[in-house]
Amino acid sequence: MSQRPWRKVAVLGLGLIGSSLARLLRTQDLATEIVAAGSRPATLQRGLQLGIVDAVYDDVAAAVRSADLVILAMPVAAIAPTLIKIVDHLSADAVVSDVGSVKGAIIATLRQALGEVPACFVPGHPIAGAETSGVDAGRADLFRRHKVILTPLPHTDPRALMMIEKLWRSAGAELIHMEVEAHDNILAKTSHLPHLLAFSLVDTLARESENLEIFRYAAGGFRDFTRIAASDPRMWHDIALSNRPALQAALDTFQAGLDRLRCALDAGAGEDLLQIFSRAQQAREHFTHMLAGTAYARTKTVSKTEFRVQPGACIRGRARVPGDKSISHRSIMLGAIAEGVTEVHGFLEGEDALSTLQAFRDMGVHIEGPEQGHVRVHGVGLQGLQAPVAALYLGNSGTSMRLLSGMLCGQPFSSVLTGDDSLSRRPMQRIAKPLSQMGARIDTTGDRATPPLRIHGGQTLRGIHYDMPMASAQVKSAILLAGLWAQGETSVREPAPTRDHTERMLRGFGYPLESRDGVVRLRGGGRLQATSIDVPADISSAAFFMVAASIAPGSDLLLEHVGVNPTRTGVIDILRLMGGDIEVFNQREVAGEPVADLRVRYAPLQGIDIPQDLVPLAIDEFPVLFIAAACAAGRTVLRGAEELRVKESDRIQVMADGLQALGVAAQAREDGMLIEGGRPIAGGRIDSHGDHRIAMAFAVAGLRAEGEIIIEDCANVATSFPGFAQLATDLGLQLQVLCEES
Ligand code: S3P
Repeated sequence: MSQRPWRKVAVLGLGLIGSSLARLLRTQDLATEIVAAGSRPATLQRGLQLGIVDAVYDDVAAAVRSADLVILAMPVAAIAPTLIKIVDHLSADAVVSDVGSVKGAIIATLRQALGEVPACFVPGHPIAGAETSGVDAGRADLFRRHKVILTPLPHTDPRALMMIEKLWRSAGAELIHMEVEAHDNILAKTSHLPHLLAFSLVDTLARESENLEIFRYAAGGFRDFTRIAASDPRMWHDIALSNRPALQAALDTFQAGLDRLRCALDAGAGEDLLQIFSRAQQAREHFTHMLAGTAYARTKTVSKTEFRVQPGACIRGRARVPGDKSISHRSIMLGAIAEGVTEVHGFLEGEDALSTLQAFRDMGVHIEGPEQGHVRVHGVGLQGLQAPVAALYLGNSGTSMRLLSGMLCGQPFSSVLTGDDSLSRRPMQRIAKPLSQMGARIDTTGDRATPPLRIHGGQTLRGIHYDMPMASAQVKSAILLAGLWAQGETSVREPAPTRDHTERMLRGFGYPLESRDGVVRLRGGGRLQATSIDVPADISSAAFFMVAASIAPGSDLLLEHVGVNPTRTGVIDILRLMGGDIEVFNQREVAGEPVADLRVRYAPLQGIDIPQDLVPLAIDEFPVLFIAAACAAGRTVLRGAEELRVKESDRIQVMADGLQALGVAAQAREDGMLIEGGRPIAGGRIDSHGDHRIAMAFAVAGLRAEGEIIIEDCANVATSFPGFAQLATDLGLQLQVLCEES
């Protein structure tokens, strides 16, 4: 018996899509027989000549006889009439699907003619069209990594649906299910409207008398914008007419946008133009990243970034690492809800902080920059945020998601928060629980209460007292931020001190807040007054170089303007306890945050039992501290750090695996790690699991390894430390970055 999924497939219409499907079925040997029918005999003959079909028919009813799969790949207007014609000739087990770009009109015609849509028909739409058309343009891989939308109806036969899903999966497509109406509305905006505009622009210019002159110079923007005007006119005529109401609405919205542009031009309103253009540019960049599923600011789709480090260098020189991530997030969040314009200097232009910035732009906040760390946030006040039109995409950033949840649960509008794969695995119950106690309504996803989060608007929040079960600045901050919109007093007790940037910055914005004996309290309904923020260099980024200089003989490094908030300096204390030579000098306070310069020199390190009270104060620095421990003589033990298991990766397991791959005696514990250090570190290959701090930690390990260390999956280093590789190289690390783009 044949193993092929289909006996006989009838492809009705051998254009770009139909012939690509026939090629796919043929090259993957999915059908015993492939036949075609269509309106143009020459096309069918060409199909036979190409060997992509075995037989052709001029009569569709004859073609579908005894077929178990029928694909309607003709222009939209012909789909329903063809199905009506063939329905009585289909075999009992036949499954039928189409590839039309409009669904509602097809379904309406079928209902009218047949009373109901046949259960064996699965309406489908591969988003894989191109401006090229015809049987010769087809490709077996046309659908690979493209979306295919299926719009099954309530009575669609589940077996038929399953078979069609199987077909598209073999094509390497990404499947999406949608309601018919949603499909037509979305496609009207994302596909049909742009085609109309491209046709219209070319037609309009072509009518002008000097058109020849114009087209001679029409490269660049004109060519890009009008690529799709080369598409098949008959096909687009059909689509435009079939999706009329949705397309009319999309045109009206666009017309209103054009009118705004025209008014701004007429009035010479440069500021308005600038706002429209920058909003569009930012939105364009944002959705590019959403589609790629990456964190925010990557300009190309990078499928693979690898670090390769050669052993034996030392670290010398002076450097100012990029701005503090936690403070950068908060500068945008509080600036956005303040009254007046907040100036931020030293802002971290890393992907995480940019996700926060984009989220507030999506909620109507005008934000200028960042330009070399300078950002101007035009605050809208506590009641001024607007409903985002789509889900807020927060890339890799847990801080953005948790703090924003606190801010959004007291808004009059609902919102959805999503992120990349790593963020989609991180626990959100820790914020959903206390926020719900305050009256918020937050839906998490799945049994493990992970993102996406749906936050219901219009809830009344009440202040609560919350005893936090874990030491987490994100949880503390989410509750305090929700407290700004809550009635009465909100207070939080933390089991151990965690970073207090939210508290310091709220005070900086003039918001009254009390912090005593491990309890922070504030009352809702106040006001934030815009201010200036100078973001210090991030001690969590500096930590990589602190360890690098400590472990590489001959190193002497000056790190400037580092934030040394006492809730963040655990890494200095731990390294000193291990024998590290770190001098902290030039201490000063800048915009409410302590700052200092650090001099770090090589020193032989010894293993220690890490004091538990230092754990929350060095929570992000453990990956690189484990590298220090691997280089330190004797045993280092970390306990009470189970939180590391729920960071961007499971940092206990991933670090233990990586260290073991380099021959280091590292044992993962439920709540920490045991490392027997001081023995040789081998070269090897490390999987960073897309965790920025794991990638950078192992790059540092390369200084003391006996061979090359290759670290995989390093693109996310840009979430917290853009420019890491360059700076590391400038300071002496022999680091090479290999990128493979797709
Ligand atoms: C952060 C708090 C910490 C830290 C994170 C940033 C913040 O997370 O790990 O990188 O900015 O509040 P937890 O609150 O989960 O410990």
